[in-house]
Amino acid sequence: MNYPVMTAEEAARLIKNDYVVGIGGFSSVGVPKAVPAAIAKYAVEEHEAGRPFQIGLITGGATGPAVDTELPLAHAVKFRTPFQSNANMRKAINSGEVQYFDCHLSMIGQDVYYGFLGKMDVAIVEASEILPDGNFIATTSVGIVPDLVAHADKVIIELNHAHEGKLKGLHDIYLPEMPPYRKPFMITSPGDRIGTIDVKIDPKKVIAVVETNLRDNQAGFKPLDDDTRAIGAHVSNFLVNELKRGGIPKEFLPLQSGVGNIANAVIGALGDNPDVPAFSMFTEVIQNSVVDLILKGRCNYVTGSSLSLTDDALDVMYAHMDVFGERLLLRSQEITNHPECIRRLGIIALNTALEADIFGNINSTHVMGTKMMNGIGGSADFARNAFLSIFTTPSLAKGGAISSIVPMVTHTDSSEHSVRVLVTEQGVADLRGKSPSQRARLIIENCAHPDYKQLLWDYLRLSEGKGFHTPHSLKNAFKMHIAYEETGDMRNAKFEM
Ligand code: COA
Repeated sequence: MNYPVMTAEEAARLIKNDYVVGIGGFSSVGVPKAVPAAIAKYAVEEHEAGRPFQIGLITGGATGPAVDTELPLAHAVKFRTPFQSNANMRKAINSGEVQYFDCHLSMIGQDVYYGFLGKMDVAIVEASEILPDGNFIATTSVGIVPDLVAHADKVIIELNHAHEGKLKGLHDIYLPEMPPYRKPFMITSPGDRIGTIDVKIDPKKVIAVVETNLRDNQAGFKPLDDDTRAIGAHVSNFLVNELKRGGIPKEFLPLQSGVGNIANAVIGALGDNPDVPAFSMFTEVIQNSVVDLILKGRCNYVTGSSLSLTDDALDVMYAHMDVFGERLLLRSQEITNHPECIRRLGIIALNTALEADIFGNINSTHVMGTKMMNGIGGSADFARNAFLSIFTTPSLAKGGAISSIVPMVTHTDSSEHSVRVLVTEQGVADLRGKSPSQRARLIIENCAHPDYKQLLWDYLRLSEGKGFHTPHSLKNAFKMHIAYEETGDMRNAKFEM
């Protein structure tokens, strides 16, 4: 196909002030890198010339530094959706410079496709190969790329030779029909294919191809510490006990694992526990620990929307394509996170909280209820629809000045109705079938850090016996957070009778 080939700088100049730009990629991999960085430079030039230049950004999820570092530093972003995990973008969001729409990741592709987010001027996507018919093979993620290229007026393709010939056949691309013609997704086991290996595109939309040779440069994970080891051990022991008592079928169930250090450590711990059978994964993000587990035969199949791997882990995968080609599939996030698939397959969902309250509500996104950390991601897609939804968090943050177990979360991402089990390094609270009072007792006893147990018991006792189903004291509910803001330590909280 004779698409126009140009430099990143030339392609950047095709983007106009006020454009809405869709950027491919997911969990900071498979993201176009050269054109967004060139757009940032172009924005600086425009600003220096006294001309306005800002764009709206719609992505699949987190993007790399070329997007979420360079563009906010150039003050080139007007709004952003649906997930980011970057210090510079976070700062721009929390300062109010960037308007941020934090959205369930299963829904953003269809929001684009349904036209809920308005007109998209240009999509910029990364390809590992452009086929003779003009369609292309994606790279290390799928995200919402099929929706972006279907919906955008124009498309710029970054053809990244770093992955050339290595990824063909690893994708399953399926764009669901629009309601009322949508059909069931016929996925009854993680490896079922329902689509094509390539992304279909109308060749008339392609306004530029930019050739690159750039690795994802995904950041590494923190080494395991005592807390993450303990959380991993609690989760795996809990699942083994469930298996033994018949709470999980003997065949085991596919796992989903969230993002970040803790999620990566928990999956590693599950793989290392010989009592946990070899498992499959139906997940959103495939992190480093999974590569190792596949090679050890502890994970027998994984499907997700991105290979969120450090470059060395990706090289290990590329060196063993005879194994991974049979055991790995990348899909769009609408499918990996779809309630229909999650409920049908009976996923065991493992996600991470910033804070949990004593009744089981989860805050995954807002520090002290106000500052955006990353976003809800797919956590609630999985938590709401899973067979078993488990949230993990260390019981302390900031050296012990913050308890992650609080009387009332300052923001709710997954409610008590979706959260079945809570795990900290202290232990496990199985919340199934428990009333709010029973849940509170279990969470304080099993999950809170000893430094905060008495404070939380005091809170519960002063609220109980007043004829409440959920024993809260509204005048005291945020006293621990207020103590942190005023004194730098939640332990200084004083409750009022
Ligand atoms: N209050 C304030 N800060 C807190 C906190 C709390 N209760 N709990 C944790 N933090 C801070 C930590 O101190 C750390 O700060 P630092 O970066 O300055 O060191 C930061 O939050 C991240 O914590 P960490 O313990 O390293 O956790 P993580 O890397 O496992 O990430 C989440 C945890 C919740 C931020 C992350 O899992 C997330 O973004 N989740 C939401 C999206 C999601 O679950 N997606 C998966 C769907 S498939």
